[in-house]
Amino acid sequence: MQLKYYLLPLLSFASPLTATPVATPEKATLESRSAAGCFEITQFRNSGSPHSISATVSFDLVDRSKNLAASCRAILSIQPSIVTTEFPTYCNDTSVAFGFQYKPPFPGYWLSIAHIYNNNNTVDTGSIWAGRDIRRYDNPSGNPNGDFDYLNYPADFKVAYNRHVQQLPISTLAAAAPNPTS
Ligand SMILES: *[C@@H]1O[C@H](CO)[C@@H](O)[C@H](O)[C@H]1NC(C)=O
Ligand SMILES: *[C@@H]1O[C@H](CO)[C@@H](O)[C@H](O)[C@H]1NC(C)=O
Repeated sequence: MQLKYYLLPLLSFASPLTATPVATPEKATLESRSAAGCFEITQFRNSGSPHSISATVSFDLVDRSKNLAASCRAILSIQPSIVTTEFPTYCNDTSVAFGFQYKPPFPGYWLSIAHIYNNNNTVDTGSIWAGRDIRRYDNPSGNPNGDFDYLNYPADFKVAYNRHVQQLPISTLAAAAPNPTS
């Protein structure tokens, strides 16, 4: 909060674009609030496949409040058999993206999900820690090529999200709009 008091007077000198009404801290152009929403995840899995070096992380996602249904997947065709994928990895509906990452300083897997809409100005985003309980499936045939690793985590769960609504200042919108005379 205090930072804004120092920054705003500086910015008003920095550029003629900000010479238009200077936002007070109460009327800041960036708004953030929590929302009681959640992504409902079903059919989650992160595992290798029998007789294959490829592994898959996949899940289906719905947000009933937004009439949103997406299917998300990333495939890795090298070892190790638990899949990590950088955020943003896009789902079949490209307004939804996810990441599944391992961050050794805080050991375990993180699933992060974001849904961007409203002309890219609203983002619902949430993440969960999926632990690090990696197990090995022993193929009953006894053929070791049938064995694979998997992350022991529920198939169905919810990821609560926060909502951030970005309201761009008028000057920025004007600068971004195409010039009709050019
Ligand atoms: C994405 O997958 C979901 C779940 O299978 C489906 O309901 C939805 O229609 C798909 N969306 C697109 C854009 O293909
Ligand atoms: C949202 O951003 C993406 C990626 O930059 C872009 O392809 C898309 O056209 C944007 N959508 C809108 C409605 O501005």
